[in-house]
Amino acid sequence: MNFRDDFVWGAATSSYQIEGAQDEGGKGPHLWDEYVKEKNDKIFENQRGDTSCDHYHRFREDVALMKELGLKAYRFSVDWTRIIPEGTGKVNEEGIAFYDALIDELVANDIEPYLTLFHWELPMELYKRGGWMNPQMPEWFAAYAALIADRFSDRVKNFFTINEPQCFVGLAFSEGVHAPWLQLPNSQTLLMSHNALKSHGRAIQELRAHARQPLTLGFAPTSGIALPATEKPEDIEAARQAYFGIPQEGTWAWNTSWWSDPVILGHYPDEFLRHFWKELPKITDEDLKIISQPIDIYGQNIYLGYPVRMGDDGKPELLSRNTGYAKSASNWPMTPDCLYWGPKFLYERYKKPLFITENGLACHDWVHLDGKVHDSSRIDFTARYLKSLSRAAAEADIRGYFAWSLMDNFEWAEGFGQRYGLVFVDFQTQRRIPKDSAYWYREVIRTNGECIEG
Ligand code: NOJ
Repeated sequence: MNFRDDFVWGAATSSYQIEGAQDEGGKGPHLWDEYVKEKNDKIFENQRGDTSCDHYHRFREDVALMKELGLKAYRFSVDWTRIIPEGTGKVNEEGIAFYDALIDELVANDIEPYLTLFHWELPMELYKRGGWMNPQMPEWFAAYAALIADRFSDRVKNFFTINEPQCFVGLAFSEGVHAPWLQLPNSQTLLMSHNALKSHGRAIQELRAHARQPLTLGFAPTSGIALPATEKPEDIEAARQAYFGIPQEGTWAWNTSWWSDPVILGHYPDEFLRHFWKELPKITDEDLKIISQPIDIYGQNIYLGYPVRMGDDGKPELLSRNTGYAKSASNWPMTPDCLYWGPKFLYERYKKPLFITENGLACHDWVHLDGKVHDSSRIDFTARYLKSLSRAAAEADIRGYFAWSLMDNFEWAEGFGQRYGLVFVDFQTQRRIPKDSAYWYREVIRTNGECIEG
């Protein structure tokens, strides 16, 4: 295996997906809080994240589990409305105290915290004022980032600004499958994306300005990876073009270069600017300067890929999948090669140290007669994906891998219907049971991936 000696092995979660305690501790409402009440028929079995894994009250037990599983790092997110209930203005010290205690617990257990600032909890008060459409959003986010750095950066060194803008803009406001379930025109969602990227840049500036020690800063978009149908140069080139080009399926938001080129290269992709010129917001040089504040690490959430070959017309051609292809409980295809081609393509283009900020599998897990959770398919899936990542690590600078997720949790519109955890959660009793994959992953960490070869 090609993993560096200091490779960061971790697991990830996000605040709303695990914390519960939505009406406690002085927290304000965010978009998901409000919209699961109003529109919860859009969510699997009308479920809500009000209690979820009750991590707010059980975080010490959860950190103890992380320790038992040998995790070196934990990627979690702060709920903006827990520390600034209305998104701007008054700070909620009770919310700060919760994250302080969590961070202290991690540090005391030698688990390196990786803090994500925004994993989709848009404060309701800001949403009412236009949310991502409001040109003030970058300044609101900047003030939030400054507070995070002031209060937490004495102990937390690693930060990711925004998680999967493709989803909190695209799925939520373009495809209408996440809160607030809207299908707005491109002109509006493109404006949101520009403001979200400016928010990212302003956050980087504020994190640096308020840092209490040298920090490692990044952001964490996602992408489906274009997989060359063969390793012939023309198919590889077709995949590269499809991956960074305008998506051939789904909305514009499923785009890699639109989100990452401005952040790392300092400009939006030309092809995109030409194609969407009628719908674009005003973009100034000053905006691009803010968006392209230097970052230290580049995160990418990677779950799957799609096959591509060079068509006879010299353009990338998407292929259908083989009949009977392997897929997860969320119906996502199992495509281990995506952890080779994704990091390889991203590193070629952006040349930034990479973290796989999420990767994992939804399985049909339950407690077996012997009281354990046998999830052999998750073990097989992860082994295959990590082999690909190791191949990529021979060619690209790959610094770490975060399994999604530490534990089963609220999977957004899928409610509790999809289990991604290394640790099983019984949502009736809140009992945690590490699955077989959790013990297997402990061995992966202990051997720096070598045990996978055997
Ligand atoms: C990515 C998202 O960041 C996370 O919130 C979600 O649970 C996983 N993908 C699985 O869908």
